[in-house]
Amino acid sequence: MASCFTYAIPFIFFISLCFTPTRAQGLQYQYQVCSPNKFTPNTTFQSHLTTLFSSLSSKASNNVQFFNNTVTGTNPSDTVYGLFMCRGDIPSDLCNHCVGNATQRLSTHVDCSFSIEAVVYYDECIVRYSNLSFFGTADMEINSGYVLASPINMTNQESFKRLVYVSLNETADEAVGSGSGGEKFATKETDIDIFQKLYCLVQCTPDLSPRDCRSCLNSLINSDLPRCCAGRQGGRVLYPNCVIRFEIYPFFRSHGSAPTPTPPKLGEKKSSTSRTIILVVVPIVSLATLSAFCYYLLRRRARKRLKNLLRENFGEESSILEGLQFDLATIKLATDNFSNEREIGKGGFGEVYKGVLVDGRHIAVKRLSIGSKQGSVEFKNEILLIAKLQHRNLVAFMGFCLEEEEKILIYEYVPNRSLDYFLFGNQQQKLSWHERYKIIGGTASGILYLHEYSQLKVIHRDLKPSNILLDENMNPKISDFGLARIFDVDQNRAETDRIVGTYGYMSPEYAMLGQFSEKSDVFSFGIIVLEIITSKKNARSYESHNMEEGLMTYVWRHWKNETPMSILDPNMKENYYETEVIRCIQIGLLCVQENPNIRPTMATVVSYLNNHSLELPSPQEPAFFLHGIDKKVMQQGSSSTISANSSMPFSVNEMPTTSFYPR
Ligand SMILES: *[C@@H]1O[C@H](CO)[C@@H](O)[C@H](O)[C@H]1NC(C)=O
Ligand SMILES: *[C@@H]1O[C@H](CO)[C@@H](O)[C@H](O)[C@H]1NC(C)=O
Ligand SMILES: *[C@@H]1O[C@H](CO)[C@@H](O)[C@H](O)[C@H]1NC(C)=O
Ligand SMILES: *[C@@H]1O[C@H](CO)[C@@H](O)[C@H](O)[C@H]1NC(C)=O
Ligand SMILES: *[C@@H]1O[C@H](CO)[C@@H](O)[C@H](O)[C@H]1NC(C)=O
Ligand SMILES: *[C@@H]1O[C@H](CO)[C@@H](O)[C@H](O)[C@H]1NC(C)=O
Repeated sequence: MASCFTYAIPFIFFISLCFTPTRAQGLQYQYQVCSPNKFTPNTTFQSHLTTLFSSLSSKASNNVQFFNNTVTGTNPSDTVYGLFMCRGDIPSDLCNHCVGNATQRLSTHVDCSFSIEAVVYYDECIVRYSNLSFFGTADMEINSGYVLASPINMTNQESFKRLVYVSLNETADEAVGSGSGGEKFATKETDIDIFQKLYCLVQCTPDLSPRDCRSCLNSLINSDLPRCCAGRQGGRVLYPNCVIRFEIYPFFRSHGSAPTPTPPKLGEKKSSTSRTIILVVVPIVSLATLSAFCYYLLRRRARKRLKNLLRENFGEESSILEGLQFDLATIKLATDNFSNEREIGKGGFGEVYKGVLVDGRHIAVKRLSIGSKQGSVEFKNEILLIAKLQHRNLVAFMGFCLEEEEKILIYEYVPNRSLDYFLFGNQQQKLSWHERYKIIGGTASGILYLHEYSQLKVIHRDLKPSNILLDENMNPKISDFGLARIFDVDQNRAETDRIVGTYGYMSPEYAMLGQFSEKSDVFSFGIIVLEIITSKKNARSYESHNMEEGLMTYVWRHWKNETPMSILDPNMKENYYETEVIRCIQIGLLCVQENPNIRPTMATVVSYLNNHSLELPSPQEPAFFLHGIDKKVMQQGSSSTISANSSMPFSVNEMPTTSFYPR
């Protein structure tokens, strides 16, 4: 189930080669720490705070990147101190927008309004205020900091860790040395290898002395970073006075040029701090102490409250969601208050719990972590999307809860594990051919439903074995619609500069150009089919299978050599029909062809699976884009055997069966 989650993978090094993305200037909110100590409304302190906010906003509109201010009155205890700092590469209009939004947030957010002190972090700016002076000293209190790590490990962890450490250290040197009194900001690009670069950014508030800035950064680099982000593909540590961040894609603007491309929206993991927990833990009313009457009244009120929440969040669309809304108390009851024993999975978004409703139904509860990068808007979109989908090969959506900062999705509980587990799990779980074939067919019809037969036209965008759950009868159920997109009925293609998905399953046109369509799902399906047949993973995972060559190269080589049956998982314990296996290999290869236009549609795939008398076209060379090295191997190999453009080496009918027994 851990696999229900999606990891975002930036392929920016490809993008930067292929196209320059443009992006609307949106703000990326990250985190806030607002003191639970509140001041009294309508006091001088409040009016000072208002004055402070407007002074910050007006400075930000004046092309200023950093500003600190103090609003004093006759009574010292009414003094308010505040500052904002925009990231060094942020253009002034965005800085202005960010500071405006941040002050708005601080004065209106339920956790922040009336707080005696607070700090809010955006990708673009930091805004902070307090009733105590904090200028010129670094606040290293753990509770005011925030870390965020990419969930994805770098393959070459040890050397990457060293590189990150050295690069950030150098970037810090540069920031500290950059102009006395000026901004303390620096970015740096370092080559990881010929394909990839490491991007580092560090910044201190300019009110710190160079020495304090350096020691603030040192503490982040030497102490916080190793704990949160060592070996990860990206990470950041944010404190009120200094911040560091590294990624393997460019996330900052280099010297007044292009806008920030494609921060991966999803799949980053946050580790929360204790103050957050205190802020969000909600007192639970003990039902046992209430009389039946009170209970009734409360329920009535709760229902009304939920209905209001629904209308607030979904407006007109709320009518279709009635009956899908759960209140937090129900979920807590079902999951034993999110107890550890009930946890069945964990990932970038948060945790998944198994729960039992009062009426006995089993549910899987996906609880997005508080600081999950999936914002409320995406969350609501996902709900509106999945609420309209229903098919036996999709995991059934049962409801959601959007209350008290909680974002929770509730699905039917699928008792078995994911396909990923059966194919690649540690203890080899053997699947018969019969089961594999059924999974291929079921998955195909689930995708076909998404593409063509639901009320919507849905592109899943993250199909992979870990998102295919198997029930007790080994029926596949597609899960995780966090990245799914709805297309207009006559829309065929879309582009995004936010390329998210999973390494190994993304089609080349999506990974490189951000173009996605039904055919990019078809591509992912093709990979899944080949993985099901071979039990080999199409990812650069050194641990799982020691394949010298990529899966596609391997399959293609055997296909060209007319030895397709030798790719079959040797652990297959049952009889199988060779023609069925070969047909599936061929379908897999058709789906992973480089040119999306010649990949079959899902409707065609399903007809191929259902009707064995339909003749299949011969597949062209698959896309090897993820394996630059493999491509070379392939070309050398093919030149000595068969020309790469020759048509299919054989057709199913004329196949000399004797040569196709597995070794
Ligand atoms: C604060 O002042 C506003 C406007 O004068 C008023 O509406 C509000 O009731 C006051 N609140 C308190 C808690 O006194
Ligand atoms: C800004 O901070 C500096 C110390 O870093 C302090 O000397 C100065 O008075 C502050 N400015 C205001 C307006 O508070
Ligand atoms: C700031 O607020 C805290 C918490 O309410 C309070 O204990 C402290 O005395 C205040 N300090 C000043 C200078 O007003
Ligand atoms: C602040 O940003 C949020 C999220 O992007 C947006 O919903 C809100 O309207 C913005 N507010 C302002 C004042 O720009
Ligand atoms: C990443 O690597 C660390 C060890 O370096 C390991 O403990 C962790 O489980 C790995 N995480 C993933 C998601 O592979
Ligand atoms: C980090 O930078 C400091 C200051 O320039 C330097 O003394 C130290 O050797 C550097 N450490 C590494 C590991 O590069």
